[in-house]
Amino acid sequence: MSQLLIHPQKTPLRGTITVPGDKSISHRAVMLAALAEGTSHIRRWLPAGDTLATLTAVQSLGVPIYIEKTSDTAWDLTIEGQGLHGLRPSPAPLNLRNAGTGLRLLAGIMSGQRFSSVLDGSEQLRHRPMGRIIRPLTEMGADITAENGRAPLTIHPTNLQAISYRMPVASAQVKSAILLAGLYATGETRVYQPGPARDHTERMLRAMGVNVREAAGWVWLERLEIGDWRLEPLDLTVPADISSAAFPLVAAATVPHSQITLENVGLNETRTGILAMLQAMGANISVQNERETGGEPTADLTVCFDELHGAEIGGALVVRGIDELPIWAVAATQAAGDSAVREAAELRVKEVDRISVLAGELQQLGVDITEFTDGFTVHGPVRPSGGVADSHDDHRLGMSLAILGLLAQNDTLVHDAACIADSFPGFVETMQALGASMEWVADDKVTR
Ligand code: S3P
Repeated sequence: MSQLLIHPQKTPLRGTITVPGDKSISHRAVMLAALAEGTSHIRRWLPAGDTLATLTAVQSLGVPIYIEKTSDTAWDLTIEGQGLHGLRPSPAPLNLRNAGTGLRLLAGIMSGQRFSSVLDGSEQLRHRPMGRIIRPLTEMGADITAENGRAPLTIHPTNLQAISYRMPVASAQVKSAILLAGLYATGETRVYQPGPARDHTERMLRAMGVNVREAAGWVWLERLEIGDWRLEPLDLTVPADISSAAFPLVAAATVPHSQITLENVGLNETRTGILAMLQAMGANISVQNERETGGEPTADLTVCFDELHGAEIGGALVVRGIDELPIWAVAATQAAGDSAVREAAELRVKEVDRISVLAGELQQLGVDITEFTDGFTVHGPVRPSGGVADSHDDHRLGMSLAILGLLAQNDTLVHDAACIADSFPGFVETMQALGASMEWVADDKVTR
């Protein structure tokens, strides 16, 4: 079923939930555990469309992975690491489906292998820019061919040398691809980040015994001895994904009289932009039980409905909350006055152009939103009309439209909503558990 029907929400949302594991950490855990010397244990791993594509790719590189399906939304993995040089050629191209993180990070690892590989994905992924990783990896000596800087990428074996690279935009995927290739390079690989790109790769590499240093915007792999690095196996529990938590969080912040608690949410500072962006609008969010899970800070979040007002977002906050801007726009529809985001042109190269597609879909549902080259302004407050919308095969857009539907005057139907499982399996069931009025409808029951 791929159509999602949402009714105007007439009752408050209430309850305590745990959203599925962090997608960024789940991708990295599988890839890095594959390169470790020994057996890694990963709990509460996220079995979503994107991360499953990475898991399958890693399996086809000859890495044994034992899966215990503790639930539909959390798996425990045991991964037999093959060491940095133990991967085997895949008999077929590696298909990363819609997963940009999967393809870009694996490109870094595959550039260091002694065999050739082809990295490919869905039509959607084939449209996304890969020049941003091809350029630095080629500078390191990688042999990569790609038509028009797009997937599929064909990578042939070469020897890599370390580089010092200044990223033109703050991107964790680019930083990670370079650092992972750096594990195979002679010398010390250094990356300069012009903003606070998420640092899960660095944290995980440190947990595995690699000396990752940071100073004045630079991140580098410090070599303490000549020769290959050896990665120790991982033993980690994946925190709940703040990017997934953002959807129930905004729902509870905007549906009158709601109060919900989200447990064990990853609160890595490079990811908490959405909390600051909502608090800038007056949202009532409190943080309890701060602790550490898998080398990452986590806590429980309680959000209560409150009146919201407009806010202006830009700079580092955009980098720290880039994936949450579509759902922040939904919160902005309920805020008094204008809410603006600028310096967010990166949104245009995500799963889809998240500025123009978001603006188009929100306008379709009766929201007053103005598009700019590097952002948008939502003119609130507004009661959305409801109607028919389309996710454009973008999971975060699909979930944002679903939450908007709860605030609308009439029913909302979101087409092509199956992609929601790319990052948040069980999204509808989780929202239903909080009392949200939404449900899947059979494809033959709806007309376009
Ligand atoms: C990610 C980095 C971000 C983010 C993406 C996941 C990661 O992309 O938008 O959803 O896991 O490294 P960029 O590196 O392109 O900013």
